[in-house]
Amino acid sequence: MSGPVLGLHSRAMSLLIDSIGAVYLAAQGFESELAHELGADALSLGGGLWATVDPPRPVAWAQNIWLQPEIIPVASIGQAVKELKARGRNWAGLAFHLHRRTQLILDQLPKVSAKPLVFPSPAPTAPMGAFALLETGTLLASPRTSSPFTNGEAKFVEDRANPPNRAYLKLWEALTRIRNYPQPGEVCLDLGASPGGWTWVLAGLGASVTAIDKAPLDPKIAALPNVTCRQDNAFALDPKIFGPVDWLCSDVICYPERLLELIERWQGMARNFVITIKLQGETDHAVIERFRLFPGSRIVHLFHNKHELTWIASKDPLPDYL
Ligand SMILES: C[S@@+](CC[C@H](N)C(=O)[O-])C[C@H]1O[C@@H](n2cnc3c(N)ncnc32)[C@H](O)[C@@H]1O
Repeated sequence: MSGPVLGLHSRAMSLLIDSIGAVYLAAQGFESELAHELGADALSLGGGLWATVDPPRPVAWAQNIWLQPEIIPVASIGQAVKELKARGRNWAGLAFHLHRRTQLILDQLPKVSAKPLVFPSPAPTAPMGAFALLETGTLLASPRTSSPFTNGEAKFVEDRANPPNRAYLKLWEALTRIRNYPQPGEVCLDLGASPGGWTWVLAGLGASVTAIDKAPLDPKIAALPNVTCRQDNAFALDPKIFGPVDWLCSDVICYPERLLELIERWQGMARNFVITIKLQGETDHAVIERFRLFPGSRIVHLFHNKHELTWIASKDPLPDYL
């Protein structure tokens, strides 16, 4: 792995100018995980940005992926604005240094709404670009990024009154990112459901939810009309007895290996999966790779994930980038 690029004239930078293929913004606090995932040829640009010569791919530890990056020499702020406007309309600036210059550029670009999303409104579909000044005269810009949110920060108007905790934000984000939501009457299984944030989301969408946890749910959530609670071990449930489900959700705290077995057992019995992979201590990259082997699945680090990843799979096509 190379250290941050400090000079435009460095050999690595000259190589990148001609052949930059993708830029990845690390999920906050997980830059070393991203670097590991990208491999030894990735180059740190500073500010959590990593560049590769290879074309973009959906890696787990990126908060946003810059899909069409270009390095553009600019002589002035005015020129930077002109270059950006020529390439796209919606721009997010990433100011990891040169804050004032970045802001001066942003001030002259069309305003992009930074309003948090009201769930379950769909995320914007218009291409979202991102730029950063690598140096005063060096603009890195991509008119398309993987995330519809500014710098991948999936922010929502939070509900501080009804859900029993903030875990519901993970499920809001996952559903918003796959652009697919449990429908009224669909069957959902929520494993590790207590105190009930995810169950609250699923029931709120009108789905019929069975919530399973060793611990009881918040009584307010347990009393919702389309919620059935079972105080039980999530891993003891036999899919053949329970029957097929439209959505299998799990936020159980357990070793990733147990989730791999769980997913294996539920193959063909669940149409959609949203599963949190909890990680402890040193990140075990090898075990994460085993989740990728399930066809039609993706692993992402949600903006609302901590030291955990979210494994998502669906019988319906998933977007190329979540
Ligand atoms: C992070 S919390 C879940 C939060 C929940 N998704 C929410 O939105 O409120 C993890 C839960 O997993 C449960 N859990 C751990 N092992 C379990 C098991 N074997 N079977 C069922 N639940 C389990 C814990 O009791 C805990 O309530």
